[in-house]
Amino acid sequence: KARVGVLISGRGSNMAALLYASRQPDCPYEIALVASNDPDAPGLALAQAERISTFALGHKGMKRADYDAILNRELEAAGVRYVALAGHMRILSAEFVEKWAGRMVNIHPSLLPKYKGLDTHARALEAGDRVAGCSVHLVTLELDDGPVLGQTEVAVLDGDTPATLAARVLIAEHQLYPRILADLVTRETRPDALLDKVRELALALPAAE
Ligand code: GAR
Repeated sequence: KARVGVLISGRGSNMAALLYASRQPDCPYEIALVASNDPDAPGLALAQAERISTFALGHKGMKRADYDAILNRELEAAGVRYVALAGHMRILSAEFVEKWAGRMVNIHPSLLPKYKGLDTHARALEAGDRVAGCSVHLVTLELDDGPVLGQTEVAVLDGDTPATLAARVLIAEHQLYPRILADLVTRETRPDALLDKVRELALALPAAE
């Protein structure tokens, strides 16, 4: 099974959704490490109770690149191949993003490209949107900007507040994230994906005389 490192900063309900989905017999990934930049994140206690390895290190006072180098070492030591950001509220360094390019995903509570950044539900309500939702995307250097791998629409109800809308979007997040992560992991191990890789490598070789 593909080994996944999950980065959290708080509650960790998406981490829990990924974890419990991974316990289904046909799931192609397993959670190898849960890491948090907040040592008090409630999600850490949940991961520990579930006997998942955890790594917690507060980032205050540390240079971003130094912090990310330590985090990277932990992920590598845990044999991680994919990184899933799940409510991870800290910007990652360019080196880290480049290192995990194509193998790092994020879940965002809006229908991207709408409402990148924070307060997505308040902004959707403010704009009078009738449909909100969530997106899973590959992480690139621009915040919340990478290729979208999957989305779920969630209707806005009359009288919704940011909190009531967030609660329904969260249910959709918990369904979407494990499925998209499983798709990504499977894509890389499918025979035709491997063939594509062989072709790509062959094309990169200098032409034979
Ligand atoms: C989730 O709604 C996630 O989409 C959002 O934070 C929440 C984390 O909840 N992420 C972002 O806003 C990223 N910019 P969780 O800790 O229970 O998974």
